[in-house]
Amino acid sequence: MIGTDVAKGASLLSLGQLVAIPTETVYGLAANALDPQAVSEIYRVKNRPHFNPLILHCASVDDAKKYVLEWPEEARLLSSAFWPGSISFLLPKSQLVPDLITSGSSHVVVRVPNHPLTLDLLSRLDFPLAAPSANVSNTVSPTTAEHVDSTIGSKIGYVLDGGPCSVGLESTIVAFDGSSVVILREGGVSQEDILKLGIHVKTNTRGGLKAPGQLKKHYSTNKPLRIVKDIDEWMNQNPDKKAIVLLYEEKTIPLPSLLLSKNYNLGEIANSLFHVMRDADKSEAEIILVEPIKKQGIGRAIADRLERAQL
Ligand code: TXA
Ligand code: MG
Repeated sequence: MIGTDVAKGASLLSLGQLVAIPTETVYGLAANALDPQAVSEIYRVKNRPHFNPLILHCASVDDAKKYVLEWPEEARLLSSAFWPGSISFLLPKSQLVPDLITSGSSHVVVRVPNHPLTLDLLSRLDFPLAAPSANVSNTVSPTTAEHVDSTIGSKIGYVLDGGPCSVGLESTIVAFDGSSVVILREGGVSQEDILKLGIHVKTNTRGGLKAPGQLKKHYSTNKPLRIVKDIDEWMNQNPDKKAIVLLYEEKTIPLPSLLLSKNYNLGEIANSLFHVMRDADKSEAEIILVEPIKKQGIGRAIADRLERAQL
């Protein structure tokens, strides 16, 4: 069932059921994080490997602090600048956090999401919510309630409909290393946003010790997706292939296309990427083409999602 009844969502979660929740990034598939049986349902419905841990969604900074053992100065700066919002922190977990959430790791990822319905929901609960993106593993993350409802809706208690997600890409995940932060996953808050606070940023270390258990191939369309520098050249080399092109700005090309933004606006491109990827999947084309994106600001997160979809 799908609707906007926060009280209903809260009561189902208290009963150990799964509820899809809106956040500003993507929809999450939530369960009571302190109830291992409810959490194990998330893994089952998503078909997610148990070695891939879950983000803990909290109502406030003070709430998040209960579930971690440290709160470095950089976490204080980042949370006061961006929470509620699209950045998540990897920190040593407190004893309150069940091992199932962290896949046995001593560290947990926490964030306060920025969506009025979900903040209302969290404030009614006396537990935090474990929530991965509300898609089946290895498919495109959902940015509307309908995306969730049409895929896993029948397997869960309720889809809380908060409209389309305003950011449209997952949160940035950071770890803390001395006085630097290490970006483990690019996302809604960019490197530039963090640097503006005067915090030193290190980029990952993919595969490094504390890197998230991110699977390399991820965010996949059903159809193959290719990042190509020169669409004309690709067409010359593949004259018989039916392709559809995702465009960053309006232009005339001799192939069917879908528009991510009218004028190369990176925020708009981020916001429309996942639903346009879904639309491309539904088209008649056999392959999806996209040019490399400018790697600045949220462009880095867009590049990351496209590169993983391509693998
Ligand atoms: O924006 C978001 O972050 C969305 C919304 C729903 O909050 N959530 C999300 O969750 O993207 P998910 O599960 O799709 O991605 C979380 C990433 C995964 O790559 C996971 O491996 C990593 O975070 N992660 C979570 N807990 C971790 C931990 N304790 N240690 C290392 N990596 C962790
Ligand atoms: Mg995900």
